[in-house]
Amino acid sequence: MEAIKLNQIGISFKGSGSYVPNQILTNQNISKKVDTSDEWIKSRTGISERRISGIGENVVNMGYEAALAAIEMASWDIDSIDLIILATSTPHDLFGSAPSIQAKLAAHNAVAFDLTAACSGFLFALVTASQFLKMGSYKRALVIGADQLSSYVDWNDRRSCILFGDGAGAIAIEATNEFNNFIGFDMKTDGERGSFLNLPFNNNIDSIINNIDFMNGGFSPIQMNGQEVYKFAVKEVPIILNNLFKKINYSSEDVDWLVLHQANQRILDSVGERLKIPKEKILSNLEYYGNTSAGTIPLMIDEAIRNNKIKQNDIIATSGFGAGLSWGAALIKWG
Ligand code: UT7
Repeated sequence: MEAIKLNQIGISFKGSGSYVPNQILTNQNISKKVDTSDEWIKSRTGISERRISGIGENVVNMGYEAALAAIEMASWDIDSIDLIILATSTPHDLFGSAPSIQAKLAAHNAVAFDLTAACSGFLFALVTASQFLKMGSYKRALVIGADQLSSYVDWNDRRSCILFGDGAGAIAIEATNEFNNFIGFDMKTDGERGSFLNLPFNNNIDSIINNIDFMNGGFSPIQMNGQEVYKFAVKEVPIILNNLFKKINYSSEDVDWLVLHQANQRILDSVGERLKIPKEKILSNLEYYGNTSAGTIPLMIDEAIRNNKIKQNDIIATSGFGAGLSWGAALIKWG
């Protein structure tokens, strides 16, 4: 690769990949466990089924498969990868799972670390990786979003268990002096509303010896105030995208594809309406995968690229949102 000139560094989107477990959990299956129905779930969320990790599957092997497919599309030598960021809230090892993906890929020249921002995680990781590239620190980065929420869902809570599934996606980005396809971004968090969606530490108190207590490791299942998260998403996502368009002199009419975090079809429709983006430009695959947290955005982008929907130079507006609360938006041109 040629030397990069620091004052002209742009980002190029070179490849995508994704992976979902084979095991399918349908709405009918869930209705055998909790008091719900296919009709209720479909009409309130748009979801028909979701994938559940098989025994031995985790974010490392899901992320690895997605990463490998992205590297192949990008036609990269493994040794040329400088940076791997894994967005996940469900690491296979709390000390970090990205280095295990690095090891499986044998990407010996890359530094790899995890980033946690729940359903905004992929977007935050993409922005983070792009900053390393734009500063000239690294040239090639792999951004992975992978989550295995099935391990943390309360499968007896019908208000939340219907939403989530497991999956992973990855995008390969590269620094270039020729153009900049990472057109703009914005990120936000509001910890004061954090209690609307949590996967909290379980605070189980135990004793090491007499009078020395400690809190045993472990997490409680997902706790969610669905209505509040819904209201947050349909309000904040159009605002952050509209503000981004204004900041970079774009309009929603310039957008070829709207790729939102796949949380609920009603959220996608409402955001699309508020932004005046027609339905045929709003990509959706949540019918088959549900909400895979950090996985949804790259999973959706990869599917659309491989189905020849997203093409070279198409403008993609994307937004991730969820626990934290956190949300973000980015405008990119594919290629
Ligand atoms: O990444 C972000 C992750 N989180 C989200 O995206 C969550 C966003 N929120 C949502 O998607 C929606 O709020 C839900 C799909 C979770 C719930 O839909 P809703 O239209 O907001 O339903 P609701 O909570 O207002 O509940 C309406 C009724 C209630 O019954 P009553 O009190 O009216 O008699 C619930 O008990 O539906 C009942 N209900 C269900 N019924 C059948 C709640 N869950 C179910 C269920 N099956 N699974």
